[in-house]
Amino acid sequence: MSVARLALTFAVIAVLGAMPAAIMAADWPTDPKLSGNASLPPGLITLQNDTSSSPITLYLDRGRTLWMDASQGKSCADCHGPLTSMKTSAGSFPRLSAGSGKLINLEDQIITCRSRAGLAGDKLESEPILALSSALHDAAKGQVIHVHAQPAQTTLWQEHLQTGAKLYTTRLGRMNLACAHCHDQNIGKQMRSDVISPANPTGFPIYRMSWQGMGSIDRRLRACYSGVQATMPPAGDQTLRQLELYLKVRAQGLTVDGPSIRR
Ligand code: HEC
Ligand code: HEC
Repeated sequence: MSVARLALTFAVIAVLGAMPAAIMAADWPTDPKLSGNASLPPGLITLQNDTSSSPITLYLDRGRTLWMDASQGKSCADCHGPLTSMKTSAGSFPRLSAGSGKLINLEDQIITCRSRAGLAGDKLESEPILALSSALHDAAKGQVIHVHAQPAQTTLWQEHLQTGAKLYTTRLGRMNLACAHCHDQNIGKQMRSDVISPANPTGFPIYRMSWQGMGSIDRRLRACYSGVQATMPPAGDQTLRQLELYLKVRAQGLTVDGPSIRR
């Protein structure tokens, strides 16, 4: 382990360990039912709410345009109607695809549907997928998260959910920490420039300042693997969908915030 890595590990352990109350970063909320917005500094909340300067606006405009785009045959709207008719969609992913039994999230569904619209071959974090995901999550703002299985698929769905729940508490990487160590046991504590949130998946996709760009939940979860120096699952891996399913079940009762800014 390099000196830099070692130093970093100790820094994290210091943060996660028993820290005297006096040196705790003051007053970040610790309620496990809060959305990630509660861990944002006021400046970023202001930016998020300001449609004239928020980088999210560009993705929303692009997503709404793509929804109507019939240049390669059918538009999304030709099959689905206006975006306003898609309110309950984003909050109901991941779900089992009827054909394969695979767990798919909203971005996977958009990729499948882009080929129906004559536009095959998009990657998960590509601009059109993130733009359409932004527009669909925006249309779902305020709707409750409600993931569920079709009756015939309940057993398989439960298996995926249990795998996700188990992963959430399994120690990972060189830091030997599980998701739960940070997102259940250290909510509200400062970790480098971040404040640890309860990891409720209400604000995706996110425009992360440190990425200087938008990313889906898939990318964020992979970043957490990298944060504990674990081998990242490849983009689109079922592991990530199982974790997403577990996070959504855990967040039940919360509503979709729409695309959000993060540090
Ligand atoms: C030719 C018709 C067709 C086109 C064009 C189409 N879709 Fe779909 N879409 C479907 C069908 C059929 C489903 C049902 C699930 C499945 O079979 O994949 C679906 C499901 C969806 C869902 C889930 C809806 C729900 O039940 O909550 C979303 C979101 C979606 N499509 C997005 C898009 C986007 C974005 C585009 C444009 C890039 C698009 N679709 C273009 C046919 C279409
Ligand atoms: C060492 C601590 C740590 C571990 C372990 C960790 N994360 Fe994170 N995670 C963070 C930090 C820091 C952030 C950025 C601040 C925030 O949003 O919580 C973050 C962000 C997130 C977010 C985005 C929340 C939002 O609203 O933007 C999700 C979801 C998430 N983590 C899930 C997970 C999952 C699932 C695991 C286990 C595979 C995991 N994390 C492991 C520290 C950790």
